[in-house]
Amino acid sequence: MTTITTLTTTTTLDEKRPAIYHEELLIEQRQNARITSRTAQTTQTASTPSPTQRALLLHAAQQPYALVSDHAIPTLLHKDEILIKVTAVGLNPIDWKGPAFNFGIPSLPWVNGRDLAGIVVQAPETTSAAPSRLRKGDLVLVPSTDYRDIRKAAFQEYAVATHFNAARIPASSCAHAAASVGVAFVAAILALGVSFGVDFSGIAECPGPNLVDVLGDVDVGTIPADVRDECLASREGIERPKRGDWIAIWGASTTTGLLTLQIARLAGLKTICVADIARHGSRLHAAGADILIDRHDTTRALEIIRGITGNNLRYAIDIVGRETSTLLQSALNAEIRADGSHAHLLGLTGLPKGEQRDERIVYHTVPIKLFHSSPEVGGAMVLWLERLLETRTLVLPEIVRAEGGLEGANGALEVLRRGDASGKRIVLSLE
Ligand SMILES: NC(=O)c1ccc[n+]([C@@H]2O[C@H](COP(=O)([O-])OP(=O)(O)OC[C@H]3O[C@@H](n4cnc5c(N)ncnc54)[C@H](OP(=O)(O)O)[C@@H]3O)[C@@H](O)[C@H]2O)c1
Repeated sequence: MTTITTLTTTTTLDEKRPAIYHEELLIEQRQNARITSRTAQTTQTASTPSPTQRALLLHAAQQPYALVSDHAIPTLLHKDEILIKVTAVGLNPIDWKGPAFNFGIPSLPWVNGRDLAGIVVQAPETTSAAPSRLRKGDLVLVPSTDYRDIRKAAFQEYAVATHFNAARIPASSCAHAAASVGVAFVAAILALGVSFGVDFSGIAECPGPNLVDVLGDVDVGTIPADVRDECLASREGIERPKRGDWIAIWGASTTTGLLTLQIARLAGLKTICVADIARHGSRLHAAGADILIDRHDTTRALEIIRGITGNNLRYAIDIVGRETSTLLQSALNAEIRADGSHAHLLGLTGLPKGEQRDERIVYHTVPIKLFHSSPEVGGAMVLWLERLLETRTLVLPEIVRAEGGLEGANGALEVLRRGDASGKRIVLSLE
C-alpha cells in the first residue's frame, strides 16, 4: 500500500459558518468512552466529542472545499441512528464531479462525502424494530447514499448513519480499505440484484439475499416513487439472468466494476470485462474476470463481445458514460425472445438518449436510494457485506492512503479528477 503525503493541501478556515444542528442533544456526546478498536486490537480512548467539529464545507459550485473547525456535531434524531467518529473517508468521483458540474448539492453551504469508516460512539440500545445489533465501540463502514441528509456526509469528524446502512468491519480487514468499498458495493448489488434481479441466495461461498424476494415483502407504497418502476422491473422470472448467462461490464477497472464482476461471477454469471488491459488486466484476472477486452479499440471490443457470446448478449452494465453505454448497447442482441424476454442495459453514469435508443431493450438506472430508504433492503445488504468481508470472499480495491486528514481532500480530489489514481481508491486517513 502506498502512502501519499503530498496530497495534503492548505485549505481556508471559515469561522462564519452557522450551526444548523440540534445542539441540545450534544450533551449525550460528552462522555469519555473507552473504545476498543478491533483493527488494531488495542484499547484506545475516543476523544470526547465536543459540540463542534472539523468539517469540509462547500460554499459554492466550482469552489474547493473549505475546512472549518466550528461545524456542529450532528445529532441523532431517532432510534435507528448511530453516531460515528470518522477515521477514514473513501473518495468517490462524485465528490469532485458534484461541485464541478453543480449537481447533488441540495443547498449551500453543504458537506459532501459518500464513503466512511469509523467507530460507533453513540448507539441506542434498541432500534425501532429490534435490539440494536451495533454497539458503542464497533468499527463500521457506511456507504452514505443519503446525500440530502447533511448529518450523514463523510467529510466531517462525526457522522450519523442508520443502523441498517452500517456494516461492521471484521478484525481481519483494514478499516481504510473498507472505507473504499461502500458506495461501489451498493451500486453493484442494486444493479445486479434489483435492476437485473440476480438471485444471490445460491452463492455457495457466501450466500446473499434474493433482493427480488426481499422487495416482494416490502409495501410498494414505501418505495420512493421515482425508483419504484426500476425496483419492480425484474420481478418477472423470464427477465432475470440465469447461471451461465453472459454479462458485459464496460469500465470493469472502476471500483464499482471490480465489485460488480466479482458478485456477478459468484452468482454464476460469465463476465466480459472491458478496461485498459495493460494497466488493469492482472487485477481483473485475479478478481475472476472470464473474458478481458481492451477498451482502446472500441470497434474490435464490440466484435469480440459479439463473437464470444455468439451474438446473444442479453445483459450489460456500463460504468463510464453515455458514449460507452451507447457502444455497449450495440453489442446486445436486442431481439425480443419467443418467451417475451428482453435485453437489458444498465448505465451508472449515462444511457443512450432519444433516437439512439432501441425500444426492444430495457434500460436501467441503479435505484441507489433504495439502500437508505428501505430498512429491509439496506439491512439485507449490509449483513451480506459483513459476511463477504469476514469470509474474505471479495477482493477489495487497492487503496492509496492519504495522510493529513480532511486538509488533504482538495489535493486528493484533484488527483482523482486527473485520473492519476487509476484503478485505486484514495482514502483520507483521519486517525
Ligand atoms: N449512479 C450511481 O448511483 C453511481 C454509483 C456509483 C458510481 N457511479 C458512477 O460510476 C462511475 C465509476 O465510479 P467508481 O467510483 O467505481 O470509479 P473509479 O473507481 O474512480 O474509476 C476509475 C477507473 O475508471 C476507468 N476509466 C476511466 N475512463 C474509462 C473509459 N473510457 N473506459 C473504461 N474505463 C475507464 C479508469 O481506468 P483507466 O486507468 O484505464 O483510465 C479507472 O480504472 C463514476 O462515474 C461514478 O460517478 C454512479
